[in-house]
Amino acid sequence: MTKALRTPLCDRLGIRHPIFGFSHSVDVAVAIAQAGGFPVLGLAREMPHEIPELLAQVQQRMGEMPYGIDLMLPSAVPQQASLEGLRAALPPAHVAFVEGLRQRFQVAPPVKPSFFTTQVRSEALFEAQIEAVLASNARGIATAIGLRADLIERAKARGKLTFSLVGSVRHARKALAMGVEVLVAQGYDAGGHTGPVGTLSLLPQIVAVAGDAPVLAAGGIATGAQVLGTIAMGAQGAWLGTLWMAARENHTPPALLQRLIASGSEDTLITRAHSGKPCRVVRSDWIDAWGEAEAPQPLGMPLQQVLTGDVFASIHEHDNPRLIYEAAGQSIFAIEGETSVAEQFDRLLGEMDAAWGRLQRFAA
Ligand SMILES: Cc1cc2nc3c(=O)[nH]c(=O)nc-3n(C[C@H](O)[C@H](O)[C@H](O)COP(=O)(O)O)c2cc1C
Repeated sequence: MTKALRTPLCDRLGIRHPIFGFSHSVDVAVAIAQAGGFPVLGLAREMPHEIPELLAQVQQRMGEMPYGIDLMLPSAVPQQASLEGLRAALPPAHVAFVEGLRQRFQVAPPVKPSFFTTQVRSEALFEAQIEAVLASNARGIATAIGLRADLIERAKARGKLTFSLVGSVRHARKALAMGVEVLVAQGYDAGGHTGPVGTLSLLPQIVAVAGDAPVLAAGGIATGAQVLGTIAMGAQGAWLGTLWMAARENHTPPALLQRLIASGSEDTLITRAHSGKPCRVVRSDWIDAWGEAEAPQPLGMPLQQVLTGDVFASIHEHDNPRLIYEAAGQSIFAIEGETSVAEQFDRLLGEMDAAWGRLQRFAA
């Protein structure tokens, strides 16, 4: 019954189910599109020179299926930045602390170049990302952390639907004033950068100010009953991130997958140690070390990643079982083993059905 449940936003986008999936993996995004959801591919970790080729590949693999692209656009980053220059200017006490951790945990240097070892978030980087995304055939463009009026205008002029992740009523009002068309109410429970209000409390407040703009619910959602519940609360769909890391298509490093399976909601926490801005991650010894009494306060964005980006790259490259961590939401409770995106959709849709049946029995 709910397998046929579609909201006006589903019809507008041409998708079968009100399930939106954020992922950094092209394979996951393609599988979400095939399962009838709306995939949103994150580009915030891609090397800028590789983005045009990546987007060409995405376009070819998606065919006619609709999809979105997500960019993280914080303000207050340098106009242009050299990694070497910023590294040389890092506070010596922070450099010494990280050096101490590197020795204590015997962190091997990363070998492969990656976003985290070669890039700094800067206006010049964002401009290159924006140009590539605008030139793509993505149906939607989502932005997180920051808002850019000119991007919203240019995206709309190209017929792309604009989404913004918001964590407060203030953010929502700002996004609406800039012309954003879809608000993603992302609560404190979410994996990644997040504000202080939980999804269940945030969603009704965003729905109340959104007017005719559709709202999606994000943060802590990993079951079909939750998807249906947020639609009952006024959302036109749910936006999930953490869950897809359990999908085979994500190629999650084995030690990270084990950590995600073994961890519960209480094993995630909000820390500035990852990026410099509050970000919910799953705990590891690396994250815990930043909570020790002698640890300095993390630097801001982008400097914290200038300081620690090579460690993040290394622990992923070497799949370090003790240190590996990732952004992850309280929704981690639903990760019980490796699966596939198609199986995840089957489960979510089946749970939506069961929840609908329960409501009908109560109503009767
Ligand atoms: C590993 C990971 C990376 C993320 N990176 C981004 C990002 O680059 N841009 C963004 O808008 N959201 C990002 N998010 C947040 C998701 O868009 C989404 O709001 C969140 O995952 C929803 O909560 P959940 O993780 O409990 O499902 C990320 C989430 C995860 C788990």
